[in-house]
Amino acid sequence: MTVSPDVDESERFALAKAALSQLPHCVVVVGAAADGERSCATATAMYVSLAPAQIAVALFPGSHTAKLVERSGELSVSVLTPAQQGVAAAAGRSAPSGQDKFTALRIPVLDAPAGASAPAVAGSLAVLWCRVVRRIPTGDHVLHVGEVVAHRTGAAEADALLRFRRRYLGVGRWTSDESPEGYPV
Ligand SMILES: Cc1cc2nc3c(=O)[nH]c(=O)nc-3n(C[C@H](O)[C@H](O)[C@H](O)COP(=O)(O)O)c2cc1C
Repeated sequence: MTVSPDVDESERFALAKAALSQLPHCVVVVGAAADGERSCATATAMYVSLAPAQIAVALFPGSHTAKLVERSGELSVSVLTPAQQGVAAAAGRSAPSGQDKFTALRIPVLDAPAGASAPAVAGSLAVLWCRVVRRIPTGDHVLHVGEVVAHRTGAAEADALLRFRRRYLGVGRWTSDESPEGYPV
């Protein structure tokens, strides 16, 4: 399939649905706060540097959460478990205008530790608090590269929530032992 630059507006996401949905990815909630406002949005994340530890999230610049990330220069990444699928669905929709999204959608809050400002989702598999070190426009999103300044991990046996072929799923079962050495992640 080739991509036409003047693709019909109603077909704007056809290639994303057909091709990008084939990439399995973790489901996270990005949290941010600025000037007394808090928000969060369902998204995905990947690491882009090991030392320093850096991650990247692609955010649609029109989202309220992206604007708070822009204003504060900070974000949290809460890695969700299958038990938090409802949180993924809730944070994937905008809250009524002007309302605190955590409160409006009853998303349980984990406050930021000392040295960070972004609220996160309580009960998550892991939370990474990041300082934004780089912003790169990418098509209809902006890639925010965040350096990890604090983190918290949950229960070691907890599963991770994934997204694949426009569905949610869990990781399932290990197919190897943990690597004692070699690649760090
Ligand atoms: C599974 C899933 C993954 C999503 N991934 C992203 C993403 O990577 N980047 C993004 O900007 N929005 C993503 N969204 C959409 C946002 O979560 C959604 O636009 C949200 O309403 C933004 O909220 P806000 O305007 O309150 O910030 C995703 C939604 C879902 C359900």
